[in-house]
Amino acid sequence: MTTDDITFETRTGEIKLHGPEGFEGMRRAGRLAAECLDMLAPHVKPGVVTAELDRLAREFVLDNGALPACLFYKGYGHTVCISRNHVVCHGIPGDWALREGDIVNIDVTVIVDGWHGDTSRMYGVGAVSARARRLVDVTYQALELGLAEVKPGATFGDIGHAIQKHVEGNRFSVVRDFCGHGLGRIFHDEPNVVHFGRAGTGEVLKPGMFFTVEPMVNIGKPHVKVLSDGWTAVTRDKSLSAQCEHSVGVTETGIEIFTASPTGQFQPPIQAD
Ligand code: MF3
Ligand code: CO
Ligand code: CO
Repeated sequence: MTTDDITFETRTGEIKLHGPEGFEGMRRAGRLAAECLDMLAPHVKPGVVTAELDRLAREFVLDNGALPACLFYKGYGHTVCISRNHVVCHGIPGDWALREGDIVNIDVTVIVDGWHGDTSRMYGVGAVSARARRLVDVTYQALELGLAEVKPGATFGDIGHAIQKHVEGNRFSVVRDFCGHGLGRIFHDEPNVVHFGRAGTGEVLKPGMFFTVEPMVNIGKPHVKVLSDGWTAVTRDKSLSAQCEHSVGVTETGIEIFTASPTGQFQPPIQAD
């Protein structure tokens, strides 16, 4: 084999339209990513060291013949992102432990036969305040409302608008600095999927488009800053933040959610304090 035999898919500036082979690949990648988050659920407890959750995720992914996409991504070096409380996204697992009352997002991306499955969920650590639980509920509802817009002929603005309307209607805010993304054989592809906007604007959805929707919702202001580690994004006003993410495809009639939990655990139950 020479390097001429290897083809690399690249960003083209256009939103790719995938066929049945792509749907089949994304189904398998999405399912494994969801199963990884299912597997972690019983381990998300007060006192657990986050590096241990990362290790469990890495071993699960590798044992299933897949690769953790974030391990090789721009020097990130871990399998999952673990973002708790006022961390908006890209929290780094390490020697720090989860504490009673935390709300925590775990985000994993796996590569199965070249296809990327990218998903994240919110978990409660022990008993959680009513305010934090409401934030998590609104974030899941916002994602659901955004995904309900997905069908051929709708626009990306329809998705963003549905999310923003629900979040702001509940007096929370939508983070502007991070967005969803096209994906497939590429981790982050066209388009940028923003979680705010005007209905009827933006590119028109077509069958075969694959992308993530992953709203980040803050109790306070939408503004974020990235810490000196170069990854961890936090709310500037230190208010709580929540996020959840699915990888989806546009079908002839609507949507296929590739990262649905086979055991119905996409929104893990959160205990009241
Ligand atoms: N999974 C994240 C996303 O939803 C990306 C994480 S990149 C990392 O797009 F390097 F921070 F892991
Ligand atoms: Co993503
Ligand atoms: Co993700």
